[in-house]
Amino acid sequence: MNGYKPSYDEIVKNTGTPAYVFDLDVLRDRLKMIKDTLGEEIGICYAMKANPFVVGDIDEVVDRYEVCSPGEFKICEKAEVPMKKVVLSGVYKEAVDTKRTVAAYKDDILYTAESVNQFHLVNDAAVENGIVVNMILRITTGNQFGIDEVELCEIIADRAKYKGVNIVGIQHFSGTQRKNLKIYKEELNYCDSLIKKLKEDYEFEAEELEFGTGFFFEYFQPKAKKGEAEMSQEESEANARREDVILLEEFSKLLSEMEFSGRITLEIGRFIVASCGRYYTSIVDKKHNCDIDFCIVDGGIHQLNYFGQMMAMKKPWYRQLKSNGEIYMGGSDNANVCGSLCTINDNLVKGMPLTNPQLQDILEFKNSGAYSMTETAALFLSRDLPKVFLYEKEKGLKMMRDRVEAFELNY
Ligand SMILES: Cc1ncc(COP(=O)(O)O)c(C=O)c1O
Repeated sequence: MNGYKPSYDEIVKNTGTPAYVFDLDVLRDRLKMIKDTLGEEIGICYAMKANPFVVGDIDEVVDRYEVCSPGEFKICEKAEVPMKKVVLSGVYKEAVDTKRTVAAYKDDILYTAESVNQFHLVNDAAVENGIVVNMILRITTGNQFGIDEVELCEIIADRAKYKGVNIVGIQHFSGTQRKNLKIYKEELNYCDSLIKKLKEDYEFEAEELEFGTGFFFEYFQPKAKKGEAEMSQEESEANARREDVILLEEFSKLLSEMEFSGRITLEIGRFIVASCGRYYTSIVDKKHNCDIDFCIVDGGIHQLNYFGQMMAMKKPWYRQLKSNGEIYMGGSDNANVCGSLCTINDNLVKGMPLTNPQLQDILEFKNSGAYSMTETAALFLSRDLPKVFLYEKEKGLKMMRDRVEAFELNY
């Protein structure tokens, strides 16, 4: 029907499960909220590892894309992302890919280096092509990522020797699901002191700081406090989203207290994209084993990944869609919702409150826009990969990926 905009529920009924739907309107609103709260002068770099399917559809609302592998880079090429928006990052850049990107896109791309060897790799490729590329150096936070401070200082001290690279600043990322302001403060202080040292000791003026925030995203419903009535899913989800704004405001204050006055770009993944995603899976079997109700679904933990879901004990926000159109957000029939993998770990939620669960009921898991489709054991058991859709009110539904037979990849 011309101009007809289907609801999520219709979408999923028509397309079948398992499937992901990523809502671009929700995503763009989220990015606007983040930008408005942090202020125009703070750049936003979307860490595309969190969800590559939205790349290209948010070019106007992000300043950069952080790209960490040749595969992610090819997605950017396919999506025709402006190369000026690409930060080519990642702990291991392969020589063949680096030579290709430097030759093809010249100095459009901003490169990172995570080791002395990787620094030379980019420098040599640029020299070979007779060009100079911009680069930021990732400082380590004590793991396999980034460069040790001593080595980083040596590179800076010798920078005039490297004819293919113009070092413009520092990159820092230490971890995900973080909201401890004291730790943020320490890390920003460290960046300040490093930048100051580089200036005082080596007359190096950093123009840029690219800081991965690893902002915390609340995936789970809170447990009711003793004596307090349980909040509805809607209320508790709204509370969590208010907390998001508070985290941004407090972080923004810390940024304004920094001595560094150059350009700051924040690398963010899950905090941007988690809320735009919904994952749909259908109940395909039911059983009552040793006094416990089980619902088996056609998806599982190889397709849904809520960071911090401890042994399926926590409850995400969800809806139960019945084939007669009824929708429930809870109920009194608690069941363990398990996926279709042959592992005892394939528990999505233990004791999930449902309403008279029946075969073919669809469970919609909210806030599944980040990492579910990229960081899970998607090929385990050679089960098919789910369909992926993008949705926006203006344009309706777009299929990004049809169901993919995984057995082909495993034999
Ligand atoms: C360098 C870097 N930047 C940004 C991110 C995104 O982190 P998050 O999704 O927690 O925002 C990651 C995640 O691994 C990362 O490795």
